[in-house]
Amino acid sequence: MGAEYHKPVMLTECIEGLAIKPQGIYVDITFGGGGHSKAILDKLDGGLLIAFDQDKDAAKEAEKIQQRSFKFCHSNFRYLKNYLHYNGVMKVDGILADLGISSHQIDSPERGFSTRFEGPLDMRMDQKNPLTASRLLNESSEENLHKIFGMYGEIKNAKTLAKLVTQERGRKKLEEISHLIDILKSVAPRGKEFKYYAQVFQALRIEVNQEMQVLEDFLMQCAAVINEDGRLVVMSYHSLEDRMVKNFIQTGKVFGELEKDFFGNPMRPFEAITRKPVEASEEEVKENNRARSAKLRIAKKI
Ligand SMILES: C[S@@+](CC[C@H](N)C(=O)[O-])C[C@H]1O[C@@H](n2cnc3c(N)ncnc32)[C@H](O)[C@@H]1O
Repeated sequence: MGAEYHKPVMLTECIEGLAIKPQGIYVDITFGGGGHSKAILDKLDGGLLIAFDQDKDAAKEAEKIQQRSFKFCHSNFRYLKNYLHYNGVMKVDGILADLGISSHQIDSPERGFSTRFEGPLDMRMDQKNPLTASRLLNESSEENLHKIFGMYGEIKNAKTLAKLVTQERGRKKLEEISHLIDILKSVAPRGKEFKYYAQVFQALRIEVNQEMQVLEDFLMQCAAVINEDGRLVVMSYHSLEDRMVKNFIQTGKVFGELEKDFFGNPMRPFEAITRKPVEASEEEVKENNRARSAKLRIAKKI
């Protein structure tokens, strides 16, 4: 694979957050290059680690781990509960999620995630997904693109950009990154072009991979599969994701309010271990720029 696949972010903090019992069962739902998974395996003695990743490059990385205490599931983590139950695992002692994409994915020009290289407008984490960024840009309605750019990219001129994209695709289909960047150049705020490109790419990536929907699906399964006192450790890189995780830990739902039972007791399945999200240290950010936007939340099943 040449260069390092991915440098794990807040490795110590995540492992501490899982409070690993050597004989416990753990799940890493975002294997990537396996940095976190390997650290979990090091702490197990008689336990089991199940890891998920939908990317076939990550699946190849996982093949390198031959320990019997390791099982890999090449699939979307939205199928967590089904997979566990199908394999006779009813409950686990902790789950780690390190959301988003790996450095390997960003640094592979043919995957189309990076604004830095020429390549296809692809952006799929799962190479079997029929929806690519190119299809999204060429086939989505102007209103939908407006919503995607505004909500997931948080750019101010989302409406103008959506209009421009729909005009431009009438002239020539959007297939290459350079074509999209040419369009973005004309509407990006002066001096902040690269940030703008990154925000638009992030928005497209989130939609292509349905990242908000799968995060919701996953969180809603956690209460049913984590043992009492078991840990939920989630690291996110986008404010909307962090808000969903925070809401879920506080209320048991990603949107909406905390429900109370007949006696007025809160019905939340988890209790926050860290009230505020944990952030990477200055030293780590200096060494690994990707850590700069990471927010880590840790909760315990009640
Ligand atoms: C930030 S990387 C994880 C890096 C990993 N912790 C490490 O130390 O190498 C996120 C990984 O999760 C995978 N992923 C993201 N969303 C997923 C989903 N819904 N289902 C399965 N895998 C997913 C991506 O393909 C990527 O490889």
